Amino acid sequence: MKVSRRVENLPPYLFVEISKKIAEKKAKGEDIVSFAIGDPDIPTPSHIIARLCQAAQDPANHRYPESEGLPDLRQAIAEWYQRRFGVSLDADKEVLPLIGAKEGVGHIAFCFIDSGDIALVPDPGYPVYSIGTMLAGGKPYYLPLLKENNFLPVLESIPANILKKAKLLWLNYPNNPTGAVADLGFFNKVVKFAQQHNLAVCHDGPYTEVAYDGYQPVSFMQADGAKEVGVEFHSLSKSYNMTGWRIGMVVGNPVIVDALRRVKSNLDSGIPLAIQYAAIEALTGSQDCIQEHNSIYQRRRDLVVDLLNRIGIEAEKPRATLYIWAKVPQDYTSVSFATALLEEAGVVVTPGIGYGKHGEGYVRLSLTISDTELAKGLSRLAKWYSARSDSRKKK
Ligand SMILES: Cc1ncc(COP(=O)(O)O)c(C=O)c1O
Repeated sequence: MKVSRRVENLPPYLFVEISKKIAEKKAKGEDIVSFAIGDPDIPTPSHIIARLCQAAQDPANHRYPESEGLPDLRQAIAEWYQRRFGVSLDADKEVLPLIGAKEGVGHIAFCFIDSGDIALVPDPGYPVYSIGTMLAGGKPYYLPLLKENNFLPVLESIPANILKKAKLLWLNYPNNPTGAVADLGFFNKVVKFAQQHNLAVCHDGPYTEVAYDGYQPVSFMQADGAKEVGVEFHSLSKSYNMTGWRIGMVVGNPVIVDALRRVKSNLDSGIPLAIQYAAIEALTGSQDCIQEHNSIYQRRRDLVVDLLNRIGIEAEKPRATLYIWAKVPQDYTSVSFATALLEEAGVVVTPGIGYGKHGEGYVRLSLTISDTELAKGLSRLAKWYSARSDSRKKK
């Protein structure tokens, strides 16, 4: 049997590889502390689960959902955008619920990318932007996100011949994996650039609610004219610890939203109804959990970055996201450093190269790890560092 070239050419999905490695170590009885995956350890708030259970008991919710989602859910999403960002959305034409943001991020390429077309993709970046592009027969053109540019792409440096073939511009702020944030000034510039070059902007914003020190990230949809050129993907995964329930949304330009609705209606049958009711509860119920979770992550962020800095590893405290983007020490690559930490300290971090060429020189640590595991992981890192320093002194 021969699989398609499309599948043959797919790189292994980064986190599947990491999960496999952790499982192998655990099967051998090794005690591993993982800072690898951005999957909240804190449970979904109880009022959301209560609504999910109640809705699951109703036989009306045992049947096929509509792929475009419940009207009440689309309305709840539109109202949430209005309350949170002051952005007005037409719940029927400008809002589409998704089976997690990842699903829509992957499928949107089928709406805009024909064979040989280009999508402009941040590097380092969430792998699905480039993989979706490749599955649709297109080519990613990578936009380096460099520290000296505050991890924002330099749009002016994209060559004219690339811009001619480019259909989509991917952006993601607050950013995974760098933890960088963007302001409205940048997003306004993006809108103008997209208008000039006839690009559809796909902004991926699942971390706008995970922020620290009182900072409130903006939405791309707040930029002047954003709705004319683009959409924003969002998710309940990180805001409400709902990664396991698989629910997200895309909002914005009605032509883009409709194109994705058409693709999806041919591929999936929507989100289980009980989960849609849970999402309505999440978006319309008490929002106290967001601050509660953020204060937990903020405390963890401070512990991790302070320890890293103490052991000579350069890392800044991000204003948002669940991630610490740390420089690897001299004499290591991102893979050799991640491997050393796994083999010598029993600690898993994600090598930056997994997010693209410009992720080299960094590793990512996620804050979605229980306080006990976090303390254990940090103490292992400290011990690893002092053992390494001792052995260097002896040489
Ligand atoms: C940047 C980014 N976009 C999208 C997603 C996927 O979110 P969801 O769980 O809604 O599929 C993630 C998950 O880690 C992410 O980091």
